[in-house]
Amino acid sequence: MNENRKRRILIVDDEVTICKLLQITLSPVYETMGAHSADDALMAIQDFHPDVIISDIKMPGKDGFWLINSIQERSSKIPVIFITGHGNKRTAVESLRLGAFDFIEKPFDHDVILARVEKAILKIELEESLESAQDQIIFQGKLASIGEVSASMVHEVTNPLGIIFSLAQKIESLDGKSESYESEVRSCTEKIIKAYDRANKIIDSFKHFSRYESNDPFETMVVKDVVSDSLLLCESRFFCQGIEFSTVGGSPELKFDCRGISISQILLNLFNNACDALEGLDEKWVKVIIEDGGELVNISVIDSGKGISDSCREKILNPFFTTKAPGRGTGLGLSISKKIAENHGGDLEIDDDCSNTKFILTIPKTQSEVSS
Ligand SMILES: Nc1ncnc2c1ncn2[C@@H]1O[C@H](COP(=O)(O)OP(=O)(O)O)[C@@H](O)[C@H]1O
Ligand SMILES: [Mg+2]
Repeated sequence: MNENRKRRILIVDDEVTICKLLQITLSPVYETMGAHSADDALMAIQDFHPDVIISDIKMPGKDGFWLINSIQERSSKIPVIFITGHGNKRTAVESLRLGAFDFIEKPFDHDVILARVEKAILKIELEESLESAQDQIIFQGKLASIGEVSASMVHEVTNPLGIIFSLAQKIESLDGKSESYESEVRSCTEKIIKAYDRANKIIDSFKHFSRYESNDPFETMVVKDVVSDSLLLCESRFFCQGIEFSTVGGSPELKFDCRGISISQILLNLFNNACDALEGLDEKWVKVIIEDGGELVNISVIDSGKGISDSCREKILNPFFTTKAPGRGTGLGLSISKKIAENHGGDLEIDDDCSNTKFILTIPKTQSEVSS
């Protein structure tokens, strides 16, 4: 949140005087707004973006319980403090059971109101700092996975540079008077442009992937495109290690709402892990299977490795669990990947029934808020 912005409190009560009274109490510290029905409150949430809501329970028409239910249905985490009649313990308990943050008894005490609101704000601040710490960890994880592919990526970019250099030398050495001069130059420049495009594509995907996107809106994307964008970052590592890569399924019509870079982060983690697991093996392949699972999209990443031992299986999704040498593994890849999948309303699991090593990423096709 912008640190200079005052926190906002929405007060919902059909009695105009109570609304005004609460606004007077809170306005020296907070920005306040009044709403006189549950419907008005829902509209005010969209325009005013309150941090905390104080609401009466009994209102003509839709009551406070309906309001909290509607807020929760919208997956909003705004804390709601209910106003209850003095001594009405049952209603107070019921409101807490329904997910209210707290309650204030009538008649109001000025200091109690301020203290309860302060407590709700503290909760929000704690949640915000936790979220930002999580974002930082996810970002660090992304940098770590970039580190894992960087050596082969440097190789991949140096290659076209070498090609460009030798083609330029070739053009320089051509006999300008020979009959084939023009066609030879054209052939060289075509190859130079191709090599440049390849290097540029890799650098672009690298720059794109390194962006910080935790607050980016969800976008509707073709599943197969997200997989191939992710592959671009790891292709050189597969190539250098002699790993055969294939993708099965995923028609151009199969789309999902996602933060593309985050999904690439998951896939890159899975690809990097597969590369590590296949080191020194004779049979080396990685297969991605894209499936339409109705409301979900399933992306499976399978490798020809020896699988995961029973003793590791339960721990590998835990943060900091690694079987790799110090400096090679952080033990964060899979736990961060699972967190990203959960942030999409999906999941990342190991398939115990597969004889190879198989991870299944499940992502819902639709998200409630998508940028157009
Ligand atoms: N494809 C795989 N095959 C075998 N073991 C794997 C595979 N993917 C992950 N693992 C195991 O899970 C552990 C945790 O993976 P991860 O969270 O990505 O951290 P890191 O790669 O830094 O060790 C790895 O150290 C490895 O033991
Ligand atoms: Mg890893």
